[in-house]
Amino acid sequence: MKKIIVSSMVLMFAFAGVVHAAGNAEAGKTKAAACGGCHGMDGNSLVPTFPKLAGQGEKYIAKQVMDFKANTTRKNEMMLGMAAALSEEDAADIGAFYATQKLAGPAPADESNLAMGKQIYKGGNLTEGTPACQACHGPKGAGIAGSSYPQVGGQYPDYTLAQLKAFRDGSRANDDKELMRSIVKDMSDEQLAAVANYIATLH
Ligand code: HEC
Ligand code: HEC
Repeated sequence: MKKIIVSSMVLMFAFAGVVHAAGNAEAGKTKAAACGGCHGMDGNSLVPTFPKLAGQGEKYIAKQVMDFKANTTRKNEMMLGMAAALSEEDAADIGAFYATQKLAGPAPADESNLAMGKQIYKGGNLTEGTPACQACHGPKGAGIAGSSYPQVGGQYPDYTLAQLKAFRDGSRANDDKELMRSIVKDMSDEQLAAVANYIATLH
């Protein structure tokens, strides 16, 4: 039953919001100049707590920027300051720019729990009713093009793990229909660390 619900949610989300105006990558490059100090000029951050944005979907990036600006369901002091002056058009342009950049990866990963992480990512976990992550994030972690299902592959494990824990404790609550919160709510620290680590190796 859970499986059926999740698959229909996948479809619902994949088709939602296809009408947004597309951003302009050229304009976005200029607007993203201020972001490069932390995220890298080409979106490949060098710091494990600053997420890589290269190759990330335009729609997902634009949504996150507006969510940081609203400062309700996703809060971060650094990003609040950066997003405050950006319009929806700026966010779409910046998203379009990063979407054209090439993800450098994979991020370095600890070998010890990769097998467990792979199992969860590819097959989910029946005991906790966890669906396979690849259903929405793709077998290579590239996300679903044109949707707001993010690329997760090649990302730093530190950043990914922090996000999974934030979804679990509800401090990040910007996932529509509680999609991510409901998925991670019964997962252990060990499982989250393993899947975050495995994700880093996908590219
Ligand atoms: C001072 C460092 C810093 C600067 C400058 C900065 N960011 Fe960030 N950014 C962060 C941090 C830290 C996070 C992770 C926040 C969290 O933990 O939720 C983040 C997260 C993000 C995310 C979410 C990524 C994801 O995968 O969900 C986006 C999108 C983003 N930043 C875009 C921008 C844009 C656009 C700019 C420039 C206008 C910018 N950032 C400038 C530090 C910075
Ligand atoms: C039913 C679809 C679906 C499934 C299954 C799913 N996710 Fe997600 N995930 C999403 C969506 C949609 C978002 C973006 C939420 C938002 O708008 O901020 C997301 C966001 C994320 C993020 C944040 C990315 C970032 O850059 O900040 C991570 C990490 C993540 N998911 C990991 C996982 C893992 C690990 C699993 C499996 C245990 C999983 N997801 C299963 C739909 C899904």
